[in-house]
Amino acid sequence: MKKLVGIEALAIAVPSRYVDIQELALARGVDPAKYTAGLGAKEMAVADPGEDSVSLAATAAARLVRNNNVDPSRIGMLVVGTETGIDHSKPVASHVQGLLKLPNSMRVYDTQHACYGGTAGLMAASEWIASGAAAGRSAIVVCSDIARYGLNTAGEPTQGAGAVALLVSEQPDLLALDVGLNGSCSMDVYDFWRPLGRREAVVDGHYSIQCYLDALSGAYRGWRERALAHEVVRWGSNLPGEQLARILYHVPFCKMARKAHTQLRLCDLQDAPSGAPATPEARDELAKSAASYEAQVASSLSLNARIGNVYTASLYLALAGLLHGESAALSGQRIGLLSYGSGCASEFFSGVVGEKAAKRMAQTDVESVLARRERVSVKEYERIMNLPYDAPEALTPAAGTFRLAEIRDFKRRYVEGAAS
Ligand code: CAA
Repeated sequence: MKKLVGIEALAIAVPSRYVDIQELALARGVDPAKYTAGLGAKEMAVADPGEDSVSLAATAAARLVRNNNVDPSRIGMLVVGTETGIDHSKPVASHVQGLLKLPNSMRVYDTQHACYGGTAGLMAASEWIASGAAAGRSAIVVCSDIARYGLNTAGEPTQGAGAVALLVSEQPDLLALDVGLNGSCSMDVYDFWRPLGRREAVVDGHYSIQCYLDALSGAYRGWRERALAHEVVRWGSNLPGEQLARILYHVPFCKMARKAHTQLRLCDLQDAPSGAPATPEARDELAKSAASYEAQVASSLSLNARIGNVYTASLYLALAGLLHGESAALSGQRIGLLSYGSGCASEFFSGVVGEKAAKRMAQTDVESVLARRERVSVKEYERIMNLPYDAPEALTPAAGTFRLAEIRDFKRRYVEGAAS
C-alpha cells in the first residue's frame, strides 16, 4: 500500500502588535477602501527588532511541539523556509534547534527561494518521508518571515510578519499530500528581490503580480496534467479546478488570491477540450465568477487579512485559516495549494483533508494567539519601524514565546517568556 505522507499538525506565531489598516490609510492620505476592498486587508502585524525570523520560528515550533505532545526523538529533520534570515551562514533552523533543545541526531537547515522557500522545505521533508529514507521519523518545517517594504511605499500596506510550523509525517491528520502530482514553473525574473545588506525588499509591484499569474498558469497546468493522468480530476461538466473543494494561494495581499483564482479558472476555460465559451470575453467573464471565488477561496483568507504578508508562511497561514474554520466539513475532500516565490518559482500541489483534522485544529490556539496581540497607533508603528535592527528593546516576552534579547560579538541571544 502506498505510504500516506503529509501534514500532521500545525501551529502559528505572530508579533505581539498590529496596526489597523484603515488607520494606516488615513495617515497616508489614501482612501481606506483602497486598502480594504482594493487589497483585501484588515490589520497588519508589526514586528519589532526583538521579534525576528528566529524568535517567530522558535515560538511557532515550540507551540507545535507543546500542543501536540511531539516526542523530539521521533524528529529526523528540521527545516526553516525563510527569505529574511539573520545570517549569511548560520541558518535560522540551528537557532530553533538550540532554543527548543532538540536532539543533535537530525538534519537541520534553511531553504530559500523568496516566498517559495517554505514549500521547498515541505517538499524536501515529505519526499524524504515518502522515499522511506526517514525510516519512520517525522520532520518539522517552519516558515518564518518579516515582510518589510518601508514607510510610505506602495508595498507598505502589504507588509506583515509571522511563522507557521508544520509537523510532517506518515500520519497526515491535517492534510495527506498527493506526492508526485506537483506541477512546477520557474523563471529568471526581477519582480521582487532584496539585495544583500538591505532590510527592505525592492519590488516592481505590478510586474510581480503578472509574474505570479504567469508562474501559476505553468504550475497549475503541470499539476492538472498529472492529476488527469491519475484520474484525480477529469474534463467534464465541472472543470478540473472546480473539482477541488478549496484552493489555497500564496497571499501577498488578500486580493491577490482573487486574481490568482481567476487566472486558474482561465487556464481551465482556455484548455477545455469541448464546451468552452467561444470568445475570450466570455471566458474572462466566467473566469471572474464571484460564486466560484466565494465557494473555493474566500473562507481561507481570514488570518491573512488580519496579519498581512508573511512571505514563506502566507500559503500555510491560509491553510491554518481554512482548517481552523472548516476542517470538519472538508474531511476527506481534496484541496489545491499554489505556492509562489518571486524570482521566481511556483508549485501547485494537492492533498486530502484528514478525518482527524478538526480534532487536531482544536489543539491549536489560533484565536487566542491573535487575541493576545496589542493594537498600536500609526505613530507607534512608525517608531517601531525606525528602530535599529540590532538593538532590540528590553521587553519581557509573553509566556511560551521567544524574543531576541541582544546581539553581542555578532552573536544573538534569545530569551523565552516564563510560564505564567
Ligand atoms: N477603492 C477601492 N479600490 C481601490 C481604490 C479605492 N479608492 N483605489 C484603488 N483601488 C484598487 C485598485 O483598483 C487595485 O485593484 P485591482 O488590482 O483589482 O485593479 C488595488 O486597489 C490596488 O491599487 P493599485 O494597483 O493602484 O495599488 P498600488 O499601485 O499602490 O500598489 C501593489 C499595489 C502593487 C500590490 C503594492 O502594494 C505592492 O507593490 N506590493 C508588494 C508586491 C506584491 O505584493 N506583489 C504580489 C505578487 S509577488 C509575490 O506574491 C511575492 C510576495 O509575497 C511579495
